[in-house]
Amino acid sequence: MGPPGAGKGSQSAKIVEHYVMPSISTGQMFRDAYSNNEPIGIEAMKFIKNGNLVSDDITNKIVALRLSKQDAEDGFLLDGYPRTVAQAIALDKMLDEMGTKLDAVINILSSNDVLFERMEQRRVCRTCGTTYHLRFKAPSVEGVCDKCGGELYQREDDSHESVMNRLMIYETKTKPLLDYYDKKGILFNVNGMQSFDKVYEDVELVLGEF
Ligand code: AP5
Ligand code: MG
Ligand code: ZN
Repeated sequence: MGPPGAGKGSQSAKIVEHYVMPSISTGQMFRDAYSNNEPIGIEAMKFIKNGNLVSDDITNKIVALRLSKQDAEDGFLLDGYPRTVAQAIALDKMLDEMGTKLDAVINILSSNDVLFERMEQRRVCRTCGTTYHLRFKAPSVEGVCDKCGGELYQREDDSHESVMNRLMIYETKTKPLLDYYDKKGILFNVNGMQSFDKVYEDVELVLGEF
């Protein structure tokens, strides 16, 4: 968990390099569905581009479908889900049915100044979703993905207005969830305003417990 731009996707990529399991990002699933012209992606993008949340109903459904795939049987990492208390309750029910539970909720903390700068400088590969930062994680060739040669673009929701809205929604709808997981005793805070590797070291300290 963490506000927009905190580094959830960046740390997820590092985590699944090390611990072999699927990384399930609801935002990325919506963006992929949109790129593939799927109706769910086109519907979701109406909300995403302005920084609003997609409905709980649609979001819970795509997660339930994704968790039912075989590669999630031995564990998985969720990035950007749940984001509302209703989603957290729906997730608890899905996990109950699967006979499993969350081991840890890692919350990446950051200041708004850092978040704005990161989202402005972010570029994403249209083909494989790899994320870059024009200064801190620049591609070798401008506009081209190092991993797959795909085209890099700026996300539709990284405009200043969308980012403002996303931060506001994070504060009102998502932050209350931290309390939900803290009460369950599984919330771990990590300082996201450090280098990629230092943040990951702190994440590993948490994950090493399991
Ligand atoms: P989503 O894709 O999840 O976006 P988000 O939560 O706004 O978070 P971001 O992906 O923007 O940031 P991040 O934390 O992954 O940071 P990143 O690693 O990229 O969701 C998008 C939208 O989809 C939502 O607004 C909503 O509309 C919809 N949606 C998704 N899930 C939903 C749900 N559950 N319910 C309803 N709607 C939902 O890093 C950011 C930048 O900073 C990059 O350039 C990166 O290279 C750089 N960076 C990262 N870490 C560091 C570091 N340590 N040092 C320097 N630079 C860094
Ligand atoms: Mg992300
Ligand atoms: Zn790529």
